[in-house]
Amino acid sequence: MTRKLQPARSVKGRIWLPGDKSISHRYALLAAVAEGRSVIRNYSTGADCAATLECLRSLSVPIDRDGNEVIVEGGGLSGLKAPAGMLDAGNSGSTIRMLSGILAGQPFISEITGDESLSRRPMKRIITPLEQMGARIDAREGNFPPLRILGGGLNAIDYELPVASAQVKTAVLFAALSAPGWTSVREPLPVRDHSEIALGEFGADVEVEGNEIRLLGQPRLTARELTVPGDISSSAFFIGAALLLPGSELKIDGLGLNPTRTSLLDVLRGMGADIRILDRRCKYGEPIGEILVCGPESARQAPLQGGVIEGDMTAAVIDEIPMLAVLGAASADGLIIRDAGELRLKETDRITTVADNLARMGVTAEVDPDGLRIPGRQSFRASRLDSFGDHRIAMAFAVASLKANGESELRNADAASVSFPEFYDLLDQITEA
Ligand code: S3P
Repeated sequence: MTRKLQPARSVKGRIWLPGDKSISHRYALLAAVAEGRSVIRNYSTGADCAATLECLRSLSVPIDRDGNEVIVEGGGLSGLKAPAGMLDAGNSGSTIRMLSGILAGQPFISEITGDESLSRRPMKRIITPLEQMGARIDAREGNFPPLRILGGGLNAIDYELPVASAQVKTAVLFAALSAPGWTSVREPLPVRDHSEIALGEFGADVEVEGNEIRLLGQPRLTARELTVPGDISSSAFFIGAALLLPGSELKIDGLGLNPTRTSLLDVLRGMGADIRILDRRCKYGEPIGEILVCGPESARQAPLQGGVIEGDMTAAVIDEIPMLAVLGAASADGLIIRDAGELRLKETDRITTVADNLARMGVTAEVDPDGLRIPGRQSFRASRLDSFGDHRIAMAFAVASLKANGESELRNADAASVSFPEFYDLLDQITEA
């Protein structure tokens, strides 16, 4: 679907966002192996999290969904049954990697695949530790979906993650649920910790000390009623719109503010953004709250100063880089992004797809193997954009087009529904022409 996008003057209002994608996957997967009826409220409305539910249904887990509320009847760690056919993770790296952790512990054969984009994404990173734990996994060229997993009979391991990946950490921890004894995972730098928090909420014995997470296998997980916080990665696009457009004032309530995810706010504040946290509370172990974002006072003022994102910081804002790149082009001094090789392994090669769309808007950017250098004070030309089927590219450039000098077009705009089907409606609601 091609969508026409008009420039806007400002964004104003107070919004709540659909549930966090990362947390929704984890709650659904853990509810499936817990004992009893879990109720998950504000479950992510995106296609990725729907794919997780579909896979679980194919593993004979009864699931009812009414809008954003999901009811999962968990049958415990041994309640899953061999699927009749191939499991389909769609576009979702989280589904295939985290569910593979659970499947590795199941005494049956399962096969899992995904769409064209997912079929090109590396799985060796989960195959290596899961095989060390005792699963047997066949993959195309030893690295790509489809995966054929022969699980069961796992042993606990001590594992040092070679890549800073929360999906890999989660795959190991979820497999460890089925392995007797303590499994230990060490991460090279801190990545999102929703799995550790959720495991604790569902009753697992989980200990965190520095960069090490330890989990005691074969727990009895208990069903829970939980509410998923608003998705901070989705908020990036609304925060971006508010910072680009002068006179904007936007409040976002019920937003997930887990410190392993809020580096986006730190980076933007470091670039001079006016973002205030109005309220902070904690629910189900996850910090949430309300934020206020104010745009520049006048059109003459650059929205941000600019800066450098590198090292640990790059990993902490990896999903938000498409939006940050757009903001960098409008900033006073430009933005340099380094150490972002992982971006090439996302739903698209996001270094290439960001640079391609910037170029279409008349914005120059220098492409490095692991990053981008984007000079500041550039203006955005109305143009024909393309998401290339990547949800975050669709949303980042829909926001960029608000600042363009006329009507733009976005091909494959519907890719946004992978994480955020309501995105365009919500954006329409808060923009003032
Ligand atoms: C996610 C982890 C990150 C992130 C992805 C969601 C998660 O991926 O990019 O959108 O929910 O654990 P990696 O684990 O590949 O870094």
